Amino acid sequence: MILTTKIGFLAIIILWGGGVESKCSTRGSCGALASYYAWNGTNLTFISTVLSTSITHILSYNPQITNQDIIQFGSRVNVPFTCGCLEEGFMGHQFIYQIRPGNSYQKIADLIYANLTTVAMLQSFNSYPVENVPDTGLLNVTVNCSCGNSKVSKDYGLFVTYPLRVGENISSLANEFDLPERLMEDYNPSVNFSSGSGLVFVPGKDQNGAFPPLKSSSSGISGGAIAGITIAALLGAIFLAVCFYVIFFRERRKAEAFPGAEPYELNDGPGTLEKISESGPIVSSTPRLTGITVDKSVEFSYEELAKATDDFSLANKIGQGGFGSVFYGELRGEKAAIKQMDMQATKEFLAELNVLTHVHHLNLVRLIGYCVEGSLFLVYEYIDNGNLTQHLRSSGREPLPWSTRVQIALDSARGLEYIHEHTVPVYIHRDIKPANILIDKNFRAKVSDFGLTKLTAVGNASLQTRLVGTFGYMPPEYAQYGDVSPKTDVYAFGVVLYGLISAKEAIVKANEVVTESRGLVALFEDSFNEPNPQEALTKLLDPRLGDDYPLNSIRKMAQLARACTHENPQLRPSMRSIMVALMTLSSTTEDWDIGSFYENQDLVHLMSGRLQY
Ligand SMILES: *[C@@H]1O[C@H](CO)[C@@H](O)[C@H](O)[C@H]1NC(C)=O
Ligand SMILES: *[C@@H]1O[C@H](CO)[C@@H](O)[C@H](O)[C@H]1NC(C)=O
Ligand SMILES: *[C@@H]1O[C@H](CO)[C@@H](O)[C@H](O)[C@H]1NC(C)=O
Ligand SMILES: *[C@@H]1O[C@H](CO)[C@@H](O)[C@H](O)[C@H]1NC(C)=O
Ligand SMILES: *[C@@H]1O[C@H](CO)[C@@H](O)[C@H](O)[C@H]1NC(C)=O
Ligand SMILES: *[C@@H]1O[C@H](CO)[C@@H](O)[C@H](O)[C@H]1NC(C)=O
Ligand SMILES: *[C@@H]1O[C@H](CO)[C@@H](O)[C@H](O)[C@H]1NC(C)=O
Repeated sequence: MILTTKIGFLAIIILWGGGVESKCSTRGSCGALASYYAWNGTNLTFISTVLSTSITHILSYNPQITNQDIIQFGSRVNVPFTCGCLEEGFMGHQFIYQIRPGNSYQKIADLIYANLTTVAMLQSFNSYPVENVPDTGLLNVTVNCSCGNSKVSKDYGLFVTYPLRVGENISSLANEFDLPERLMEDYNPSVNFSSGSGLVFVPGKDQNGAFPPLKSSSSGISGGAIAGITIAALLGAIFLAVCFYVIFFRERRKAEAFPGAEPYELNDGPGTLEKISESGPIVSSTPRLTGITVDKSVEFSYEELAKATDDFSLANKIGQGGFGSVFYGELRGEKAAIKQMDMQATKEFLAELNVLTHVHHLNLVRLIGYCVEGSLFLVYEYIDNGNLTQHLRSSGREPLPWSTRVQIALDSARGLEYIHEHTVPVYIHRDIKPANILIDKNFRAKVSDFGLTKLTAVGNASLQTRLVGTFGYMPPEYAQYGDVSPKTDVYAFGVVLYGLISAKEAIVKANEVVTESRGLVALFEDSFNEPNPQEALTKLLDPRLGDDYPLNSIRKMAQLARACTHENPQLRPSMRSIMVALMTLSSTTEDWDIGSFYENQDLVHLMSGRLQY
């Protein structure tokens, strides 16, 4: 009985929800595209910076761009981003923009974000008054988006947020997108397409040039069932509706109290947000694995790999990791690192792999593809310049200047923040350490092997319970009880920060003869408690920094590392706060006064002077 009544109520909501599809009440996200109007003087570097994605990722959605150095003035670029339910209750994405001198809200909305946002939205998401935007600092830039609307059509699951321009109209848009006018109107019922401003949501094409369909997580109920139930429900008394309301919201609150229990779909991009059903019994919580098809473009043949690696010759072997050997090879014109895995692929493994090949971020090493012939191989983009361990500790390398270390910290934080907060599903890395932070020729950092833990866990049940990680980087709650959360990565990241300061390993042998080991965290913790902590910190510095370093900046990084390695996971900052803190640290003109920009619990805590030098 309760089950039917709930379904009835859901049906009512679905009816009531007509027209306001941008409203959302449950968490979930999908891929989306921002249509960026290329003004005279813009370029892909600029666009990828302000919309925080990579040029490669942008190019994959814009086959019309043949030369990435030239984008035609007046054309539009589709920029991928993730669309989710914001706290304010509508679908959007919050970008963080680093303010430059002379930027007004008007300029940021009209030009820098090409009307994807508005002055009014900037005002409502930022504390600065419109006439007094500072020259530096960080701004919240919110861009609206849509994940689709099953009432309009189930054939479209990826949407372009499209700012209208003067001169455009419904027929010019229908022409441009090659879609019926009627469909566009149905998706944007209250929009005047000739008004020359405002946003519309238009179905977009994915990387394969096809319109991806709406992914329904509520496949348990058919359209007919909905109609039947709806009539029944409408006939029911308002009294009943009130009862359902109570039941529904109580259940929802319960579900929200345990976000970990949310049935995340294995979703390779756009998905539906009609997850109202999440709390109800009608959705199956088992991920849909049946009939998974992995994109053929990412599949390599054994022959191809063998040819690229000179038959997996020793000369091409570049590493030996926990999961197998790594070889260098050039594949389809791209330098690649090919990982031979000590395991076989299962269907679940391929499903997970499919998801991972769709995760793109400038600060993540990209998984290009795979091969399942013979044994299992994963093909990654090759990063030219070694890993962070090598740069910190190999005498054959030039010492890293402090500014580069800050940049590496920020890059890695960005990569981690992305997998913690923006991918569907979200990932916890579980093995963050300098060896997993790769450095490219411009000394920008990329996090490697993310998702591998999950990938291997789905392929090998016994791994699921095994502790994955590296001693010295594991937080106490993980090493002792196996508790995993994003804060597991935050702790390890804190140890990496200590490593950037000291160039020491996570476990330090106090004395070469006596085997007495100490963790880097404990070593720094002691220094904070010295009568003269500043002097104690100076003693821990990497001697290769020489005499030329800004002690103030180092001290702040040490403070951040200390917050990250707090014993209590709940008191560690989130990766997003860390990223923001490092952005502030890396912009030299900026003072370390993030407390006033970001009234974030974690950072207020971090900045509260818990630790004073
Ligand atoms: C773009 O700007 C440059 C210099 O600012 C100018 O010379 C050029 O004519 C402009 N191009 C267009 C198409 O307006
Ligand atoms: C890209 O555009 C930005 C902003 O207009 C400009 O500052 C930068 O120099 C441009 N970069 C290139 C490579 O043209
Ligand atoms: C944004 O909108 C304003 C006002 O309609 C317009 O003048 C400007 O050119 C637009 N900017 C872009 C990049 O389309
Ligand atoms: C940006 O948003 C966060 C909350 O999401 C808020 O704490 C912060 O103050 C905002 N930034 C500005 C400059 O107002
Ligand atoms: C974005 O959505 C919110 C909520 O629906 C709305 O208030 C706001 O005006 C929208 N912004 C734009 C630029 O359309
Ligand atoms: C729509 O715009 C196109 C070109 O922008 C124009 O040729 C056409 O006349 C316009 N149609 C209407 C109905 O305004
Ligand atoms: C739509 O906007 C245009 C331009 O502002 C205006 O001329 C037209 O009357 C509007 N149409 C409707 C139906 O409101």
